[in-house]
Amino acid sequence: MTTTLRLWDLPVRLVHWTFVLLLPALWWTGEEGDLDRHKTIGLVMIGLVAFRILWGLVGSATARFASFIRGPGAILAYLRGGPAGLGHNPVGGWSVAIMLLLLGGQAGFGLFAQDVDGLESGPLSYLVSYDAADSAREWHNLGFDLILIVIGLHIAAILFYRLVKRDNLVTPMITGKREVEGVVAQPKLAPAWLAIACALPAAGFAWWISKGAPLP
Ligand code: HEM
Ligand code: HEM
Repeated sequence: MTTTLRLWDLPVRLVHWTFVLLLPALWWTGEEGDLDRHKTIGLVMIGLVAFRILWGLVGSATARFASFIRGPGAILAYLRGGPAGLGHNPVGGWSVAIMLLLLGGQAGFGLFAQDVDGLESGPLSYLVSYDAADSAREWHNLGFDLILIVIGLHIAAILFYRLVKRDNLVTPMITGKREVEGVVAQPKLAPAWLAIACALPAAGFAWWISKGAPLP
């Protein structure tokens, strides 16, 4: 007997695959010095990360940080062969938090970064000194290398589950659905209006930053 669950809601899947599209675009535009486009895409990234954080607080059960950020006990138990639970397992949960933190941090440094000749800068660099903006640029360069490493690990972990544990994680991230053994209760899905209620402030935040974060 198996149950087909709706594991990942549409917002989680849309945000995930948009990350996958935007990251190469950010790399390409950043390296090529196409910075107008880079900054626009970077601000979309900020909106997405902000949305995912809000969704992690109030969204569907499997999207919530409280459901997958687990303590050392749960992590050790899982590593010793204990239950993975539905959604992100206790190890994967932390990797999700780290990826979101790195993406948010990277975009955050981009906001304050100024390139070496001072011609191109993030929308908040006017708030800090030249030296601070220069350090932000250095952190922004370093941050990207860290992101590449963590995403390399992310993809390696998914391959490991596929090839060694014979567990296909990718299809559920595309369709949202996953078949599990036994009769299992459907995790609670959040309504569409709540996704819109999270998307509006996230988009507003990115827009406000793009204007230089003016205060009234
Ligand atoms: C390139 C940049 C990528 C980034 C920034 C990224 C980031 C993330 C994040 C933040 C999550 C957590 C999803 C959530 O709860 O919101 C996640 C999960 C996941 N990602 Fe990625 N990802 C990337 C690439 C990929 C690729 C190329 C694949 C496919 C091979 C993939 C497959 C998955 C899967 C299957 C999960 C769910 C894992 C689980 O079942 O716990 N990701 N990813
Ligand atoms: C997760 C999001 C982001 C990623 C992955 C990313 C990645 C990159 C990369 C790879 C470069 C090229 C670095 C080099 O010269 O080697 C770059 C440069 C730059 N980025 Fe981003 N970026 C992101 C977000 C942002 C945002 C939100 C802004 C500002 C709105 C921004 C502003 C800049 C600026 C001003 C540069 C030029 C700095 C320099 O000359 O080195 N970035 N970025």
